[in-house]
Amino acid sequence: MKKFILFNLVLILLSVTSVIAQKSIAHKRAEKMDLGMNLSYLDHYWSGTKSKNFSDFAKVEEANKRKKMFAGIKKAGFSTVRIPICFSAWMDLKRPYNWNNEKGLKMADNFVKWAVENDLIAIIDLHHTEFDNSIPEAKNPERTVNLWLKIAERYKNTDPEKVFFELRNEPRDITAEAWRWEAKEIMKVVRKVAPKHTLVVGFHDWNGRKAMIDSKPFEDKNIIYTFHYYDPFIFTHQGATWAGAGLPELRGVEFPDSKKSPIKTPKTAKGTWVETRINAYKKDANTKKMFTDLKEAKDWSKKHNVPIFMGEFGSYNKFASEESRCRHAKFVYTATGKLDIPSAWWEWNGGFNMFEKGTSKISKCMQEALDSYKLEKSKLKK
Ligand code: GLC
Repeated sequence: MKKFILFNLVLILLSVTSVIAQKSIAHKRAEKMDLGMNLSYLDHYWSGTKSKNFSDFAKVEEANKRKKMFAGIKKAGFSTVRIPICFSAWMDLKRPYNWNNEKGLKMADNFVKWAVENDLIAIIDLHHTEFDNSIPEAKNPERTVNLWLKIAERYKNTDPEKVFFELRNEPRDITAEAWRWEAKEIMKVVRKVAPKHTLVVGFHDWNGRKAMIDSKPFEDKNIIYTFHYYDPFIFTHQGATWAGAGLPELRGVEFPDSKKSPIKTPKTAKGTWVETRINAYKKDANTKKMFTDLKEAKDWSKKHNVPIFMGEFGSYNKFASEESRCRHAKFVYTATGKLDIPSAWWEWNGGFNMFEKGTSKISKCMQEALDSYKLEKSKLKK
């Protein structure tokens, strides 16, 4: 009998250790990401001059003001900061693709340094390589590969436990195959220089959730896969001037669907996809459906045994009511807590922030939303 018990104990021990051993580096690093925050500023290429290839968009004084924000993010309970950076504005359009703006690069270096100094995981996210699509050479894949060759060179000596590389934000106007090819080419050059850094990789169609679950992981094992989740889009982007006709004038969309009054379709939205989504809002804003969306992402990660990270979600505060924004945040945080999906809110300051109006303090109901993630996660551990 004693022998039998001992035998079983050894078996249990062996299976437990093999489960632990099976966890990849990417899995272990993803587990530490937990709650994340985007710190937007070095992606604001539109503040620059087009004839200068937007290269002058970032201002040193403005960048320096953000130093204390990293501490603020840490203090608010976040473990990860995603740093969107438009490196594209600081590199020549033509071969041999030299850097041409040391000032800009220094600001990027500082952001990464400040993140690490504040004990945050930093994601260096290559944002807006294509700008507004008005400069065709900008998004030439050969140039993007060269951007990464230089970015990897620049950050290869950072701690791979603390600094991750996100290959490209929201690839769009590109087929699944073309993006896959480009991503593999980028990986080849990055891996030569930085073999140990974790890569964060999303898929074509704006880092879409559907694009991810329709795709297969890459061969490289040290990757955390990413998707963005802005559903229901007409709620999260009402008032947005950059995301489609009809949205700038759209207001009064509540979350979940308001039983009181139907959403008024702005004239500018007539006949567009925005109108289609307005008509389908009841279905789109259904929390059961949304939970299923997120669960499908988690199921994909389990099926392929790869970690995932929801790199952007949030809502624009121009017209959306604070109550609705908080309900939306609470729903998504509760769901991602239950499903154990790390995420990064878009964004710390600017139009998607979580602050009480006119302050830089997270509002009470947004704090409750954040707490709901922690609560659900703590239940998983039991
Ligand atoms: C994407 C865009 C960013 C925008 C955000 C929300 O990250 O790059 O500019 O603010 O989505 O729409």
